[in-house]
Amino acid sequence: MTDTLASPNADTGQQDYKARQAARQELDRLWASGTEFLGTEYAILGGAMSWVSERNLVSAISNAGGFGVIACGAMTPALLEAEIAATQALTKKPFGVNLITMHPQLDELVQVCLRAHVGHIVLAGGIPPSSAVRAAKDGGASVIGFAPALVLAKRLIRMGVDALVIEGAEAGGHVGPVSLTVLAQEILPHITAVPVFVAGGIARGDAITGFLEQGAAGAQLGTRFAAAAESIAHPRFKEAFIRANARDALTSVQLDPRFPVIPVRGLVNDGSQRFLTHQAETLRRFQAGELSKDEAQLEIEHFWAGSLRRAVIDGDVETGSVMAGQSVGMVRSVQSVEDIISELVEQAVEALMRRSGRREH
Ligand SMILES: Cc1cc2nc3c(=O)[nH]c(=O)nc-3n(C[C@H](O)[C@H](O)[C@H](O)COP(=O)(O)O)c2cc1C
Repeated sequence: MTDTLASPNADTGQQDYKARQAARQELDRLWASGTEFLGTEYAILGGAMSWVSERNLVSAISNAGGFGVIACGAMTPALLEAEIAATQALTKKPFGVNLITMHPQLDELVQVCLRAHVGHIVLAGGIPPSSAVRAAKDGGASVIGFAPALVLAKRLIRMGVDALVIEGAEAGGHVGPVSLTVLAQEILPHITAVPVFVAGGIARGDAITGFLEQGAAGAQLGTRFAAAAESIAHPRFKEAFIRANARDALTSVQLDPRFPVIPVRGLVNDGSQRFLTHQAETLRRFQAGELSKDEAQLEIEHFWAGSLRRAVIDGDVETGSVMAGQSVGMVRSVQSVEDIISELVEQAVEALMRRSGRREH
């Protein structure tokens, strides 16, 4: 190739390279409070998912430059201790542990994390007891809380929480009623004291860029990682994700306000249909005087007992609980965690390049 032919291409290549570098630096600047807080290369958290977020997926996310989080769920302190040790054997990078605040052994679980030198404890499932926040912080860990509204975000910060996750109703699993689009506008402009991570419905890097520009410190994704190659979820669970569209991931339906049902977003299947008939039958038995109010409520709550495990581990996607967010429609194949994260980062960088290109024209 002659010089005359090579130079225009070389110039364009050079310009592209420089624009990409600049966009990458801009991304690092935009999520600096997140990466600093997490101690990671990218401010991308793998949201804790019961049965799914164990040693393999968590270490894969952390090894790929993100931040994996173990889902403690209903584990005993001894099981959690073993899971943390097994994760530490697979990664030297930082990862967190998600504890559910209503776990009867919450205080012991916090101590397990502290003894294992876990740097970040996520307290999920409601406003945490201030004693748990204090114990975690006194033991040297950072605490991440979930803020479903601005007043609660402020309250959590007053309690000493070091970072927040705001999770929109688009997310998989147990959800609140408000979308991330609205939560982000209500909360991000008003909270600057701590990093705020956004979650729910995120599947692409350009969406992450948008939230960073609104003031977020990073993003938490669950659904995309559940279908990752390193996730131990059953192949049928992952296939169900690949087949599904956004509109298939619906929240559980409550038939009677006297018997509250906690909204859980998952793929509609035989199980979710049967849940409706189960509620209707339980209501009939309550009205006929066969069950007390408390007994009827328990009957309804027990319907899903063990059903997430059945779907994730046993692959029963017909009657199990296939928890998934609306972002499931953008899960197209089983990808490695590294591919998912580099795709997200690339899309975030390209979004920034497009914006700076528009500014220059
Ligand atoms: C299968 C599944 C199980 C989940 N389990 C938990 C859990 O045990 N604790 C928790 O705090 N969040 C849980 N989540 C929520 C995720 O941590 C994350 O915030 C959510 O998936 C983000 O939304 P996305 O699914 O649209 O990415 C779960 C989500 C899924 C899909």
